[in-house]
Amino acid sequence: MKPLTKEIIILKSAAEIEAMRRSCVIVAEVLRVLQDNVRPGSTTMDLERIAEEEIKKRRALPAFKGYKGYPFCLCTSLNNEVVHGMPSVKKVLKEGDIISMDCGVFFDGFYGDSAVTVGVGNISENARRLIEATAASLDKAIEQAMEGNRLYDISHAIQRFVEARGYSVVRDFVGHGIGRELHEPPQVPNFGPPGKGAKLKAGMVLAIEPMINLGDCSVNVLNDGWTAVTADGKLSAHFEHTVAITHEGPYVLTRI
Ligand code: MF3
Ligand code: CO
Repeated sequence: MKPLTKEIIILKSAAEIEAMRRSCVIVAEVLRVLQDNVRPGSTTMDLERIAEEEIKKRRALPAFKGYKGYPFCLCTSLNNEVVHGMPSVKKVLKEGDIISMDCGVFFDGFYGDSAVTVGVGNISENARRLIEATAASLDKAIEQAMEGNRLYDISHAIQRFVEARGYSVVRDFVGHGIGRELHEPPQVPNFGPPGKGAKLKAGMVLAIEPMINLGDCSVNVLNDGWTAVTADGKLSAHFEHTVAITHEGPYVLTRI
């Protein structure tokens, strides 16, 4: 008999999705407070402290702290950093920078995960366009998160949108299923052939997270074991939403 190697995607009931919504609203609120604190002169460690306080205030737990040894609540990725940038007192934000903030929490049995990229003060046209295209590619992906579609319809929507604008899709990191674990099957790449992959069903909950580069798609991980940077040193942007597939269409749990 053929071994059953196909990974199982855990479906969530309507009640479980509502429970996940509560974790996800907390993440969204924390990210909103963080965005209001992005200004020249702040350090990425200031943002970490704010994240920790805002998560605690809401009786949630930071999802990333301790995950595979990651020491912070927040990932703060600046300019050429793609993902998993580590907060530091030495990283001072300056006008013209772009910063992506990725936050996850655990609350009442479920995880929520979301990320946003914002500019520090006035930023270049190039940077602004990259951020807007990355955000819009996530919207395009979310539109595909519906019953009857296939997983890579989501992936392809991102790839098609950003490549048409001359940007590149990071291959080394992908989105993921989410629920009672931070990372559940399936992997959700930000590139792929339309019409392929698992059939999407109501009850699936996916963290969709395009990481898009201004230049080449190759990335390197620094000696700290975490920080991923673009190989060519050019800018990168990252947005993420936790999205439930329902009979009524996509439900963006981390949108408030
Ligand atoms: N959103 C990212 C992810 O899902 C952030 C993880 S940071 C980590 O992989 F520290 F938790 F790994
Ligand atoms: Co994620």
